[in-house]
Amino acid sequence: MLVIASDHGGLDLKRELMEHLRQRGVEFEDIGTYTPESCNYPEYAEKAARGVADGVYEKGILVCGTGIGMSLAANKVRGIRCALCSDCFSAEMCRAHNDANMIALGGRVLGPELAKRIVDIFLDTPFLGGRHAQRVAMVMALEDK
Ligand code: RB5
Repeated sequence: MLVIASDHGGLDLKRELMEHLRQRGVEFEDIGTYTPESCNYPEYAEKAARGVADGVYEKGILVCGTGIGMSLAANKVRGIRCALCSDCFSAEMCRAHNDANMIALGGRVLGPELAKRIVDIFLDTPFLGGRHAQRVAMVMALEDK
């Protein structure tokens, strides 16, 4: 089960992505926002990120205007590795090398077709482990320093 969230700046792209996930048969929960009214992206990023960190969701997709605010906020939650991606190669590497458990996208940056491709790659690419696991562990150890 995935979690997906946006603020008003990411709402349109989130809706496109949700339709894409439905067509793929991927289960997800949309935790908001549900309207175009202006809202605060950290609230949605935190709620989604805590769900991922607590194991309620396997992975998460966050969308705001640029993806920047959502990624910054999500990465403040212990256990979260949220990658801001605007291209397919980064989406592949954030899984293969960084074991990202969340992805952040910019609704005002990406067109829907590219965003769908990026999400597909994020969902379908396994973590390679090995030397990358050691580096990811070093990243996570920063939470205790
Ligand atoms: C909202 O206007 C905008 O700041 C937000 O969607 C996001 O881009 C922040 O990083």
